Amino acid sequence: MNITEQNITIEKVKQSKINQVDFDNLSFGSVFTDHMLVCDYKDGAWEAPKVVPYQPITLDPSSKIFHYGQSIFEGMKAYKDKEDTIWLFRPLENQKRLNISAKRMAIPEIPEEYFMEGLKTLLKVDKEWIPQNEGSSLYIRPFIFASGEGFHASPANEYKFIIACAPSGAYFSGKVKVLIEEKYSRSANGGVGYAKAGGNYAGQFYPTQLAVDRGYNQVIWTDDNTHEYIEEAGAMNIFVRINDTLITGPTSDRILDGITRKSILEIAKDEGIKAEVRKITVSEVVAAAKDGSLKEMFGAGTAAVISPIAGFGFRNTDYDLPEIEDSIAERLKKRITDIQYNRAEDTFGWRYKV
Ligand code: PLP
Ligand code: COI
Repeated sequence: MNITEQNITIEKVKQSKINQVDFDNLSFGSVFTDHMLVCDYKDGAWEAPKVVPYQPITLDPSSKIFHYGQSIFEGMKAYKDKEDTIWLFRPLENQKRLNISAKRMAIPEIPEEYFMEGLKTLLKVDKEWIPQNEGSSLYIRPFIFASGEGFHASPANEYKFIIACAPSGAYFSGKVKVLIEEKYSRSANGGVGYAKAGGNYAGQFYPTQLAVDRGYNQVIWTDDNTHEYIEEAGAMNIFVRINDTLITGPTSDRILDGITRKSILEIAKDEGIKAEVRKITVSEVVAAAKDGSLKEMFGAGTAAVISPIAGFGFRNTDYDLPEIEDSIAERLKKRITDIQYNRAEDTFGWRYKV
């Protein structure tokens, strides 16, 4: 089926709930817009997407999502500039990555126009929900899950693709402290770490809770084989700055190929900031923290944007990072958010007008 904005049906809410929302005090991902996009996969094909009122979903108890976790998602944001124009940031990268995840999880891929036309239609219907205040945006959550029924452990024959949106503020409140993890692993070679599969996150909750109980916000995962190399955090890719060089680990089948990460690498190149993509050992980061050459560490992701890390724990020692002025993290954050909110020229061609 050829999908355009014209053949996406729209059923609007009778009464908007927007007046109940305090846009000056938004947390992350906890209030939802009036509408959502729903698209069903049945009899071997995706049906036309529909915009409907945001509402609960009814599923059979044998739906395979409940038993086998066949579920993937994306995370993206919509921004509104001073002229009320709506912008997305590299949305086709999310669409492509959703399909990379789909393939790995034996979920049918969603065609580009279903995703893009569906998303644009939804954003136009819910445009009043896109915050304009500094640091806020509309967090967009496209996801696909197995709604098909049966206890047989095999891919479902029916799926739902949904896009739900939440006007959101910052992902982290306050300073971010991380724990370098050596016992548990997030992903393994040949596994699903590079996919945005729901189970990747569920598997992190227990070890992350143990870290939270010790006063950290997030875990920094190391490679499952030796635990000698820093990989990524729970919901962000990781950068370290040793002296004046920014370093991030290479992507692999264990690491999510973050859109923020690759944008940062391009911005760094453009700004003449020395950046290396190479394996980072835990021991070099600890040594750099001890001798003072570790200047910065930060996480990068759609939800987290660029989140400076104030300190990390390794084994039983905490290492604090210095508070520095003119940090590279701040410089990169300004450059990327200026592009996202249409406050500066976008020489990369990343901004996408809705
Ligand atoms: N790594 C993980 C595990 C994530 O969940 C995310 C968030 O999407 C990222 C990295 C950052 O990816 P992106 O910059 O595309 O949002
Ligand atoms: C995002 O940055 O969009 C993510 O998907 C992180 C999420 C797990 C909150």
